[in-house]
Amino acid sequence: MVKICCIGAGYVGGPTMAVIALKCPSIEVVVVDISVPRITAWNSDHLPIYEPGLDEVVKECRGKNLFFSTEVEKHVSEADIVFVSVNTPTKTQGLGAGKAADLTYWESAARMIAEVSKSDKIVVEKSTVPVKTAEAIEKILTHNSKGINFQILSNPEFLAEGTAIVDLFNPDRVLIGGRETPGGEKAVKALKDVYANWVPEERIICTNLWSAELSKLAANAFLAQRISSVNAMSALCEATGADVSEVAHAVGKDTRIGPKFLNASVGFGGSCFQKDILNLVYICECNGLPEVANYWKQVIKVNDYQKTRFVNRVVASMFNTVSGKKVAILGFAFKKDTGDTRETPAIDVCKGLLGDKAMLSIYDPQVTEDQIQRDLAMNKFDWDHPSHLQPVSPTAIKSLSVVWDAYDATKDAHAVCILTEWDEFRSLDYQRIYDNMQKPAFLFDGRNVVDAKKLREIGFIVYSIGKPLDQWLKDMPAIA
Ligand code: NAD
Ligand code: UDX
Repeated sequence: MVKICCIGAGYVGGPTMAVIALKCPSIEVVVVDISVPRITAWNSDHLPIYEPGLDEVVKECRGKNLFFSTEVEKHVSEADIVFVSVNTPTKTQGLGAGKAADLTYWESAARMIAEVSKSDKIVVEKSTVPVKTAEAIEKILTHNSKGINFQILSNPEFLAEGTAIVDLFNPDRVLIGGRETPGGEKAVKALKDVYANWVPEERIICTNLWSAELSKLAANAFLAQRISSVNAMSALCEATGADVSEVAHAVGKDTRIGPKFLNASVGFGGSCFQKDILNLVYICECNGLPEVANYWKQVIKVNDYQKTRFVNRVVASMFNTVSGKKVAILGFAFKKDTGDTRETPAIDVCKGLLGDKAMLSIYDPQVTEDQIQRDLAMNKFDWDHPSHLQPVSPTAIKSLSVVWDAYDATKDAHAVCILTEWDEFRSLDYQRIYDNMQKPAFLFDGRNVVDAKKLREIGFIVYSIGKPLDQWLKDMPAIA
């Protein structure tokens, strides 16, 4: 029986390994982590992450060929294939701070693998890493190898949160990069054989190591660039009376462009896009390519602009002040169907509104009060622009409440801001919400989920990203 061990039981390690276990009953999969609470949760009825379909997959395999453990060294030493899926956040201190990937967790995992291994192993980079990381990892492993043969593969993960299980069941492609040596090719084949249990062969792409590592950063940069492109257009739409949904539809009909990932929004969030683009920017700078670096930087600048523009629009529309006014925030997660709040645009929007002394009432179906308070109290790392978004002070934290119902959040509010596209926000009883709000009642839709026409008929003043503006909003221009 082939034994797989995955270091890191997070958003990627957990779902990915659960699906491998489900699709490959003859493989034993152990997911290990240094975090005791995370492993305890993976072994309980309340998994540490919310992901549609995940519970069923875990229940099906856990205890059969899928195990979660904190005995990291034991399981690494017993494995034939070791996936490393630890976090690779942006460095906050030292050389490359604010851009470069922090490989501390990765390096310590590699050193531990070298230390405890007693048999040959395939080590798979699952985390997103800078191009050429495999070379560094190879050095750490071979210099500490005690005669053991390690083959390094790059197998970046393309799943998106909220659809992780569907993405893993039916991936657009699986990418495997390896050394072009007999040993490297043998290792690539071994990993390919694992995926071939459910992924059609033509969707398994094999490349050299550096292409695989760079393709992951490139894919995320391209995806984020599409969102910044449509968001940049949304500002122009508002200025001209064009409708961003109509423009995106017309543009996306061109088969060379395609219709996906063209939804204008309050900005993209999530743990990957900003981090991976900053990483790409740093690599370009290190390789003497400032023009290329600046090109990609602009994708993040437009994203920051979009969040600031949204806050300015809210404040400007409400007579240039939200001081002491109750503002309901519907949605805090960075997208629907996840409880993940990493880099969610809601953090910046809430900080901006609290900075203008608003009283926030926040509702998200999957995010806890603790999490929201932690996110807002955290110091946002200033990557390249003047830091106007300071952590929220303990006094200002008192100006926010977290509730478990959209109606509670909006009661007596002056305004509603929709920041996540949860399906339930499409079908709320907006007449009831309007009746219980202060007047004029404002609704700022950062995800274009509501039917603005119907809401205007009820009496709301509605702002929808990139859509023609109400006369009220035209009369109260926001300067971003
Ligand atoms: P995460 O923070 O959810 O999980 C990482 C886990 O690794 C944590 O539980 C942490 O305790 C554990 N860990 C760190 N060092 C360890 C060590 N030495 N030994 C054992 N466990 C250790 O992160 P994530 O979202 O799963 O992301 C993991 C990697 O995958 C990152 O490089 C990320 O860029 C990449 N990625 C993430 C996504 C996503 O949607 N979240 C998608 C594709 C790729
Ligand atoms: C992303 C990549 O899609 C995935 O391939 C990679 O493995 C990890 O990073 P994720 O961040 O989980 O996945 O979600 P994604 O669906 O890409 O959304 C990212 C952000 O962009 C969200 O805040 C989302 O709301 C926003 N978005 C997405 C838009 O604003 N408009 C769109 O059209 C699509």
